[in-house]
Amino acid sequence: MYNDKTLLDGGVVESSIDPALDLFDEIEKLKKEKNAIILAHYYQDSDIQDIADYIGDSLGLSQQAASTNADVIVFAGVHFMAETAKILCPDKKVLLPDLRAGCSLADSCPPDKFKAFTNKHPDHTVISYINCTAEIKALTDIVCTSSNAVQIVNSLPVDEKIIFAPDKNLGRWVMEKTGRDMLLWDGACMVHEIFSREKITRLKVRYPEAIIIAHPECEQPVLELAEFIGSTTALLNYTKKSDAMQFIVATETGILHQMALASPSKTFIPAPPNNNCACNDCPHMKLNTLEKLYSCLKNESPEIQMNEGVRLKAEKSIRRMLDISAQLGL
Ligand code: 13P
Ligand code: SF4
Repeated sequence: MYNDKTLLDGGVVESSIDPALDLFDEIEKLKKEKNAIILAHYYQDSDIQDIADYIGDSLGLSQQAASTNADVIVFAGVHFMAETAKILCPDKKVLLPDLRAGCSLADSCPPDKFKAFTNKHPDHTVISYINCTAEIKALTDIVCTSSNAVQIVNSLPVDEKIIFAPDKNLGRWVMEKTGRDMLLWDGACMVHEIFSREKITRLKVRYPEAIIIAHPECEQPVLELAEFIGSTTALLNYTKKSDAMQFIVATETGILHQMALASPSKTFIPAPPNNNCACNDCPHMKLNTLEKLYSCLKNESPEIQMNEGVRLKAEKSIRRMLDISAQLGL
């Protein structure tokens, strides 16, 4: 037996897992027993992606959460994603394998400061990227994801004044794509800000045939190099459809698993960070492990809890996003 440190309801507890157990089999059994579904983001470890019922980007994951008949949702992702599922499904049990799996981007937008900011601009419509806390969603008119941010902004009248939060890089890219001027919150993702334009340029010299693709959370100098920019699902779809055989991928490395599975003959090169760390791995996403996923499903903990007043307000802004997305066939 070995000990696995698992966070339970905010505190660290020891749980013992028999190393002889086949965790894939055990998780499958528990899923059936509890009528549970595992939703996983592309940035999760590959073994978690392999056991998931659905793997997707933030939009796909929230659409799945909104429509599932399962009684238990295990969210293999970060806290704001599991929180979004709980907002949409208050009567379901929503579990997160490690409650400490946060998000630097969500942390860059504290609710009290954001409220003071929006209070200064009462005539603005607030659009918030889904990578934010429930409290920020409760202060928001429409949520968006990287899949639908451009369409959500374009769904508003051209003269509408808009605050866009919390990601300034995504916001700047949306401004460029829509031609709109928006007030941007000064937040960013620690993973997508780490890519080195210089090192990517050198890689391109070594692999001249490679297509550079990037997530819109990257900084402008990196986005300028990219031949295609999109959400994780859009990047994956692009690599499937493209005739190119090599890609330099500027987003978190977890997505490479699905890219390689979908196109085994193609080569995927992770864009290098600006130092020698593995900083293009999201440290929050990677807190979840197969062992923690098994423990959390077995013990039905840690569970996402939510203040009902905040949930009701946050639900409105998420539902507006889902409605607009459905109308646009996204
Ligand atoms: P998408 O899932 O919308 O591609 O966003 C990526 C991300 O950073 C999630 O934390
Ligand atoms: Fe947050 Fe960035 Fe990690 Fe996504 S990759 S969860 S935005 S820190």
